Amino acid sequence: QQERDLAGLHIVVTAGPTVEDIDPVRYLTNRSSGKMGYAIAQQAVARGAQVTLVSGPTHLQPVPGAEMLYVRSTDEMLAGVERAMEHADVLIAAAAPADFRPAVFYEHKWKKSQGLMHIDLVETPDILAIMSQRRRRGQTIVGFAAETRDPIQYGRKKLEEKGLDLIVINDVSKPGAGFDVDTNQVTLLTKSGEVNELPMMAKHRVADQILSRIKDLRAQLGGE
Ligand code: PMT
Repeated sequence: QQERDLAGLHIVVTAGPTVEDIDPVRYLTNRSSGKMGYAIAQQAVARGAQVTLVSGPTHLQPVPGAEMLYVRSTDEMLAGVERAMEHADVLIAAAAPADFRPAVFYEHKWKKSQGLMHIDLVETPDILAIMSQRRRRGQTIVGFAAETRDPIQYGRKKLEEKGLDLIVINDVSKPGAGFDVDTNQVTLLTKSGEVNELPMMAKHRVADQILSRIKDLRAQLGGE
């Protein structure tokens, strides 16, 4: 890896799950340890980028050299990303934000004696789609797709629907790939249709591959 080859780039990375509270003791969330997003932030710092890491709740240590923004809900993650993207060049959305939240937050713990809880859900904002829609000239928007079947087909659909430059397709049903583990196996798919299936490797190495692909894409566009 070339030393500091990402110097001059400001990269915003999202990582971890978001949490949507039901009452003071219960919540909805998604599976994500944050390892993939933190690995991207670490490698980007090591390669000289300015990095803002917008993180949901994880058990991981802060990334030295990165600006850490800690959030809990998807709304909070959106607010953090919006702020960070005002001056950034690249968004890499590795987080697993909760897609739904309870329509009502119960201020007091729901007692079992009150009977079964009925939870109406409403959609949370799609951070990636919003930031892609609002992108400024020169911003590169990269998403992930966590899939359990037909990963390439669904990944391509997400790339197109959200108007992304690059999508990192993650078949999370494969052993050694996806949530919690230190390795991952992904396929990179670009807007122009280039497909690059990477072998299983450490998340830090996957991170480097993603960052190099972003660097190449930006170079192709003449730094646009
Ligand atoms: O954290 P780890 O344990 O290391 O696991 C890594 C991972 C499996 C979480 C990661 O590699 C991964 O696949 N992250 C994306 C998880 C996800 O939410 O995928 P999705 O296909 O549901 O979402 C598609 C894209 O939209 C993602 O880039 C996601 O960050 C983004 N999104 C989704 C919902 C939402 N409300 N806002 C978003 O920005």
